[in-house]
Amino acid sequence: MAMLLFLVLLKLVPANCLDFVQGRIVGGYSPSPNSIKYIVSLQSSKGQHFCGGSLVHKYWVLTAAHCNIGMDQMMVVAGDYTLGANEGTEQYSKPLMLIPHPLYNRSTNNADIMLIKLSAPIELNRYVSLAPLPKQNTGLLAGRMCRVSGWGSTSHSGGLIPLTLRTVRLPIVSTFKCNSSSSFSGNITANMICAGSSTGGKDACKGDSGGPLVCDGRVYGLVSWGNGCGDPRFPGVYTAVSRFRRWIDQTIYSTYARCLKSAGLFGKD
Ligand SMILES: *[C@@H]1O[C@H](CO)[C@@H](O)[C@H](O)[C@H]1NC(C)=O
Ligand SMILES: *[C@@H]1O[C@H](CO)[C@@H](O)[C@H](O)[C@H]1NC(C)=O
Ligand SMILES: *[C@@H]1O[C@H](CO)[C@@H](O)[C@H](O)[C@H]1NC(C)=O
Repeated sequence: MAMLLFLVLLKLVPANCLDFVQGRIVGGYSPSPNSIKYIVSLQSSKGQHFCGGSLVHKYWVLTAAHCNIGMDQMMVVAGDYTLGANEGTEQYSKPLMLIPHPLYNRSTNNADIMLIKLSAPIELNRYVSLAPLPKQNTGLLAGRMCRVSGWGSTSHSGGLIPLTLRTVRLPIVSTFKCNSSSSFSGNITANMICAGSSTGGKDACKGDSGGPLVCDGRVYGLVSWGNGCGDPRFPGVYTAVSRFRRWIDQTIYSTYARCLKSAGLFGKD
């Protein structure tokens, strides 16, 4: 069972992506530098990229719960474009707190969403902005075009090859089709959305986990899981951000209320 689930891989885990170009965003291209200003790279203490995320507040990053490798191991990098190259636009911040969703279930991948509170704010500038989010429970019709972006992963051997951000455009696949016996056979919950090309060859992959699926300019999905990468039978499965909009707002607000209260600083930023 555990082994089987391992094979139905979280996109964080190296698996059968090796047939594809470096296990990165499949079938996409590099957007122009710093054009996707809210995407962040989560890096290990050794500077290895392992997941993506989106800046939703100068102190908060939204990512997938399965990207939780422990706070001490993590660095958030905003304003990046080519990993492993110093472009002068990068901003680094260590997490202060990780808040995975309380309903996150690692065997079903349900509620695969996490907020990261940063220890220092990210400055918003020409290279960094906040990600717009959908309203609570806003749905998307099948066929709606979206875009997923990420850095995929660098080599296992640890050598940091400079890698530029990649992006690919994909249509939403209906939950009905994605949950059917010809696809994920009942494993799709209401907290997930699927996106992928009917002919395959376009997908998020290993290392893109936690990164944004953007539709109509808003982050509707977080790269969560799948079965291989770019297989037409198995679209990519994303956390449905609109199901968690209230949780996101409440988590950010309640943390502030608590901090402000303990610092005796009501009403101030
Ligand atoms: C995860 O989901 C499975 C299947 O529904 C359930 O059996 C299990 O108890 C859940 N685990 C947690 C930690 O909620
Ligand atoms: C669905 O989940 C079950 C139990 O976790 C697993 O055995 C099965 O392989 C999954 N099927 C697909 C198509 O993901
Ligand atoms: C997917 O199928 C399973 C099994 O039929 C069902 O329990 C589940 O509710 C379905 N998911 C959605 C979002 O309808």
